[in-house]
Amino acid sequence: MLSYRHAFHAGNFADVLKHLVLDRILAHLVKKDKPFFCLDTHAGAGGYSLTGEPARRNGEFEAGIGRLWERDDLPAALAEYLAVVREFNPSGRLQAYPGSPYFERRRLRAGDRLVLCELHPAELVRLKSFARKDPRLKVVRGDGFHECIALLPPHERRGLVLIDPSYEIKTDYRRAVEALLGACRRFETGIFALWYPVIERRRIDGLEQALGQSGIRRIRLFELGVGPDARGHGMTASGMIVVNAPWTLADEMEAALPFLADALGRDGGGHYRAFELTGEGP
Ligand SMILES: C[S@@+](CC[C@H](N)C(=O)[O-])C[C@H]1O[C@@H](n2cnc3c(N)ncnc32)[C@H](O)[C@@H]1O
Repeated sequence: MLSYRHAFHAGNFADVLKHLVLDRILAHLVKKDKPFFCLDTHAGAGGYSLTGEPARRNGEFEAGIGRLWERDDLPAALAEYLAVVREFNPSGRLQAYPGSPYFERRRLRAGDRLVLCELHPAELVRLKSFARKDPRLKVVRGDGFHECIALLPPHERRGLVLIDPSYEIKTDYRRAVEALLGACRRFETGIFALWYPVIERRRIDGLEQALGQSGIRRIRLFELGVGPDARGHGMTASGMIVVNAPWTLADEMEAALPFLADALGRDGGGHYRAFELTGEGP
């Protein structure tokens, strides 16, 4: 039974990091004319209200996108990310937050494709409405971990796979690593981004170890924390693991991460990590 609903968390500090990295990868992909393929294995609803009960219950967005909304001093990559969120709020007030499918769709050109996987029936209804009438988009009702292997490699031979599980089931940690490694092997030229939450640090240590020993190269990690690790007391940090990252991403994140740690850290407790897991790559 799936109980996770992203509407409670949309626009929080983890979404800021995730969508910043996602947007940078997409910006890189559109630099070449050649069409690309994008697969979002855990797509969610496509967009979220910030004025309804779910978002207001814990006000997570206020400590995330809410702290950036009015700022005009952002590093370039973050400014571009914020411009997307502002575009999603044409009223000029922060009332809604775009999901990953929105960041992806707005970068698509005529020959590009986007496949969105989702399992939750209610999210699926909203996702289908988001994707309707656009022939470049396809919504798949299915297990993203499975589809991520089944749909690869794409005929375009270039593109991005975003793996963004909810981790509500503990086996997601293992399945996420298996899916990432399997997908990398099937689509060697692809770019892969796996999101993870830091709730229990030992799980992420295990994830890093498994990836570091996998034989897959060019794996980068970008993590943003808003407070010290606090085992079992909620998410205190989150990260994106990127395989075959565009060569510009590391520099862009080196500029954005200290800014985000400062802006989003709780009581000055923000922190970040950015490094190459396998000791190779740009
Ligand atoms: C973190 S949310 C996705 C947020 C979205 N990627 C974004 O950034 O806007 C995870 C989503 O995965 C869905 N989900 C959970 N298990 C799944 C699975 N095995 N396959 C596909 N979707 C799944 C949940 O219903 C939820 O909507």
